Amino acid sequence: MAISRKVKNSLNDASWVRRMFEEGEAMKRLYGEENVFDFSLGNPNLEPPESLKKTLKALADRPIPGMHRYMQNSGYSETRKAIAEYLKEESGLPFEEKHVVMTVGAAGGLNILLKAILDEGDQVIVPSPYFVEFKFYIENCGGQMRLVDTREDFSLNQAEIEKAIGDKTKAILINSPNNPTGVVYNQESIEKLAGLLKKKSRELGKTLYLTTDEAYRRIVFDQIRLPIAFHHYPHTIRVTSHSKDLSLAGERIGYLAVSPFCEEVDELISAMVFALRTLGFVNAPALMQRLVAPLQKNSVNMREYEEKRNLFYNALVSFGYNVVKPQGAFYLFPKAPIEDDLAFVKELQLKRILTVPGRGFGKAGYFRIAYAVDNKVIEGALPGFREVAEKYRTEKR
Ligand SMILES: Cc1ncc(COP(=O)(O)O)c(C=O)c1O
Repeated sequence: MAISRKVKNSLNDASWVRRMFEEGEAMKRLYGEENVFDFSLGNPNLEPPESLKKTLKALADRPIPGMHRYMQNSGYSETRKAIAEYLKEESGLPFEEKHVVMTVGAAGGLNILLKAILDEGDQVIVPSPYFVEFKFYIENCGGQMRLVDTREDFSLNQAEIEKAIGDKTKAILINSPNNPTGVVYNQESIEKLAGLLKKKSRELGKTLYLTTDEAYRRIVFDQIRLPIAFHHYPHTIRVTSHSKDLSLAGERIGYLAVSPFCEEVDELISAMVFALRTLGFVNAPALMQRLVAPLQKNSVNMREYEEKRNLFYNALVSFGYNVVKPQGAFYLFPKAPIEDDLAFVKELQLKRILTVPGRGFGKAGYFRIAYAVDNKVIEGALPGFREVAEKYRTEKR
């Protein structure tokens, strides 16, 4: 075999999202792009805000000498300071430049973070359903993913998390707003989780990290306020990026922030910077670091995602789908009307609708809709969703 067995197995396990996306591309070639309703990939459809274009133009028109050279691995001081300022304002906590490391998207950040904290065989608890890449990132760093089911409404199941924590546990990785469910973990659940981690850290005599993937942090609806995990647990590390809030997914710019109350902050940051260097990222993209520094309070118009959520959610409910109302991100995760989520997804494909089976996220019997698409794609797909729901309703009678 020419390639590693581990990678070979992972390839066989190929992501359902990618598989459906590729099937979608083939369908588009066959039927024409406008006749296929593709909800397979979470790729932000909104254009970056005007302020970003202006800043980019100013950078191109008035280049800073040396702006394309190597820099310190953790990133430009100016950018890290701007992010620390933003975090300070958001949380009221004493964030400084030294608490922030610039990364190659949230994905790069997760790999660095895990590399920095995991020893061979260490476990990371992940509430399920989950973002499927987590498994590979954890395994990249020698760790093991330990899945823990969430409740019926996809909220955290503290009792199950407590049962899963053991000698091998190093961290819990939560993602809120969540991909694939769109669910937001509320204040109470974060407080409870922090309490549990404190108790278990004491019992086990070691630090357990609360790692929070907040790639969708700014995409929240219904005017809810997202809890700030830093307030509740000192060993919190946030991973995020500007892929979604500034619609810069292709530009690969994100960051890690360690709580100012974490005693091992200096050691942790050194370990992350080492990982950034030796995993070959070296540093986050230079131009993007300059670009996002002054734009920390800018974002795309989240109300557009909220309108899409409303349109889609209300229609699905009226067709009889059982779906938890998401309060963030740009995903819906309805229950499939039949047990076999793959068969159901195939049924939708006959209507040229592409979604991803729940088994791709550790939760068979459901399916994921990524709705960061033009409204006309949503509107075009609704009759198909209705017809398939009706078909199964009729068959059940
Ligand atoms: C939950 C979650 N985490 C991380 C990422 C990766 O984000 P980035 O593009 O910033 O690497 C994604 C991308 O879709 C995601 O859904």
